[in-house]
Amino acid sequence: MRKVAIGSDHAGFALKSFIVNNVTEVEFVDIGVFSEQKSDYPDQAQEVAKLVLERKTDFGILICGTGVGMAIAANRYKGIRAVNAQSGFVASMARKHNDANLLTIGSRVIAPQLALHIVKVFLFTPFEGGRHLKRIEKLDKLG
Ligand code: RB5
Repeated sequence: MRKVAIGSDHAGFALKSFIVNNVTEVEFVDIGVFSEQKSDYPDQAQEVAKLVLERKTDFGILICGTGVGMAIAANRYKGIRAVNAQSGFVASMARKHNDANLLTIGSRVIAPQLALHIVKVFLFTPFEGGRHLKRIEKLDKLG
């Protein structure tokens, strides 16, 4: 069973709980937060990014109000390829072409049922490799 690190700030807490309770095909490592008490998204982004980079989980999911702050924070970690997906199509292409290893979602943007769809597409769409591989390798040489 795939292992998935998941975290949110206060704005994403309710959607995170909904995803953890409704996606039964994977094992979640839920790093919090566990209430709607105010928190800072870089803190959860750091924890989830580390679990992915240390290969303790296969993927990461981070939820905040827009998914933007979580994506900015997670993409600061070399080796993290985070996508703020707002459709199943983008989630699928992010896996097929970009080998994205971390999904961010905006709880104030994406309705719960669409979020479930995006999560499932993301977690179960394989990377196509081939011509996309050398592009992924170039990413780690940037900056
Ligand atoms: C919190 O109000 C909000 O700023 C945060 O959840 C996120 O949307 C930031 O990108």
